[in-house]
Parts: sequence; C-alpha cells; structure tokens
Amino acid sequence: MKIQDRDQQVYIGERVFTKYLSRDTIKARILELGRDISLDYQDKFPVFIVVLNGAFMFAADLVRATALECQLEFVKLASYEDIRSTGTVKKILGIPVPLEDRHVIIVEDIIDTGRTMSTMMEELRSMKPASISVATMLLKPECLEVSIDSTYVGFEIPDAFVIGYGLDLDGKARNLADIYQLSNEKA
Ligand code: IMP
Repeated sequence: MKIQDRDQQVYIGERVFTKYLSRDTIKARILELGRDISLDYQDKFPVFIVVLNGAFMFAADLVRATALECQLEFVKLASYEDIRSTGTVKKILGIPVPLEDRHVIIVEDIIDTGRTMSTMMEELRSMKPASISVATMLLKPECLEVSIDSTYVGFEIPDAFVIGYGLDLDGKARNLADIYQLSNEKA
C-alpha cells in the first residue's frame, strides 16, 4: 500500500496518522542531547551501540550533534509485529566488539515496555563495560513494564503508536522526516 502524505496526515492502509513531532522540533531537541552527551563524555572515547533498524536516523543525527571522539557499532533487535509488542525480544545481530572497560551509550528509537532495552543492558553488562547509558529518542512512560534508567530522552510521549523518523509500521514509514501518531482507523 502506498503511503499517502496529505499535509498533516499520513495514511497506511486503513490507519490514519497525524503529525506529532516536526522535523524542526526533533532537530532542536537532538542538538540539546548532543550537547549534554558531549559534556558528559569529554575525553572518554565512548562507543555508541545503535539498535537497528529503528534508531538509524536518530543515531545519525545524534552523533553529528556531539563533538566527541567516539566509536559507532550496530546491533539488530526486533520485538514488534504490526502495532503491538510480540512480547519476545529476538536478537538478530550480536554485539560486534569487546566492550570491557568501555563507556557505552546505547542508542534506541523508542522505549515502550522496556523489554528490548532490558535484554540489551543485561547482555552488555556481562561484557563488563566501564559504564552504560541509554539515549532514546522517545519514551512511553505509561507502557514501561521493567524499569529502565534512560539518561538521555528526546521526548516522553503517551501510549499511542508512532511512525516516521526511523520508526516503522511493518517496515513502512521509516523514511518520513517527521514523527506521526496513530489517530484512528480510516472509516
Ligand atoms: P519495547 O521492548 O516494548 O520497549 O519495544 C521497543 C521496540 O519496539 C522499539 O525499538 C521499536 O522497534 C518498537 N516500538 C515500540 N513502540 C513503537 C511505536 O510506537 N512505533 C514503532 N515502533 C515501536
């Protein structure tokens, strides 16, 4: 199904999404996060672990908003089908480098139940890094089922499905530059 973008709304099949966070709002917030991370990690040569696929766009903007010597690595995880969490976290690609004594910043698109991040953190802790922090573009506080200490949060949002800026609905809509929120099913 072709994505139709009419001004403030995007249609995917029967679903209607309304523009929620504009590209300018996102950009401004990422510049702030980048400044915070640059101050916190001066001279620490952190490694950003980017959780694919959803975080690719956020990570690209976030690392360019930092003024740091840093390393970038990627892992691939998935826990969603359609607009609901499947409840299981599938690990697809593992962590590619040794992390012992490294300062790790996990970069995620969105934290919903927190299960994906909790699994990631458990695995990373076993690799004995010097520190672990989490940078997430979006956080749904009402949906958290496990407590996650997210150091850098772009926006706290309500419990509604969102797409765009890397976030997908069954593989669609990642390329949208703004973030859209599910408003209703088309009549
Ligand atoms: P969690 O394990 O429930 O915290 O889910 C985290 C993962 O689910 C994220 O990395 C996303 O891939 C996906 N996800 C959660 N909420 C949304 C959403 O509103 N839109 C798109 N993907 C989502």
